[in-house]
Amino acid sequence: MAGLVIANWKMHGSLALIAEFSQQWRGLPQLSKVDVVLCPPAPYLGAVSEAFEGLLLGAQNCAEQVEGAFTGEVASQMLAELGCHYIIIGHSERRSLHGETDAQVAIKARLAAAEGLHPVVCVGEALEQREAGEQDEVVSEQLLGSLAHVPCDRLVVAYEPIWAIGTGHTATPGQAEAMHGLIRRRLQEHYGAAGAGIPIIYGGSVKPENAGVLFGCDNIDGALVGGASLDAKSFWQIASAASAGRA
Ligand code: PGA
Repeated sequence: MAGLVIANWKMHGSLALIAEFSQQWRGLPQLSKVDVVLCPPAPYLGAVSEAFEGLLLGAQNCAEQVEGAFTGEVASQMLAELGCHYIIIGHSERRSLHGETDAQVAIKARLAAAEGLHPVVCVGEALEQREAGEQDEVVSEQLLGSLAHVPCDRLVVAYEPIWAIGTGHTATPGQAEAMHGLIRRRLQEHYGAAGAGIPIIYGGSVKPENAGVLFGCDNIDGALVGGASLDAKSFWQIASAASAGRA
């Protein structure tokens, strides 16, 4: 399968950044064997889709309803209509700051999949949970709860240990690979043989300097990149590392 590298701009960016980033991106060599996705804040989806060629559009969240009186919410159908292909669901910042539960994540993932989007369902343990050796249990439970009745076609899973997000402390390749292997086994138990083909990407302080070694791991199919995705050259280097060595 091709690599998958997704930029999560979170609540960063501006029209000026989009113009600068796209100009720099056009000057960099085109990449093959990797799908590159840019998830800007929702108001910038139109500007990003106009500014870039060769990049897929993604969103960072969607409502858990189809439509209605939900002031401030954005429906997955609207995101699909705007040209989104991917949607990040259940990021740890949404789980911790907005109290999103596994059940809500599963509803959103189902709605996104029904619109033909790729739901990128995020899971990951907190530092205290890892220090207590509970990471396998925590992530398995979160994963199964977040995937209840979610179809496996188009699904992507992102493993993002919370202690590695925005901290500069990336999981070691050994820690990441062990968890990706566990997620792969859980997906196969849940979906049968079809579960083997679900891309599992890693997120948490991915940088050009550590991307190559992470992508060298058998069960790491790509990355969800926060901070380093705001710089076109750094993000290109990460995407380029994901394309290297792909069949
Ligand atoms: P980071 O963020 O790369 O800045 O650690 C990753 C994420 O939160 O998706």
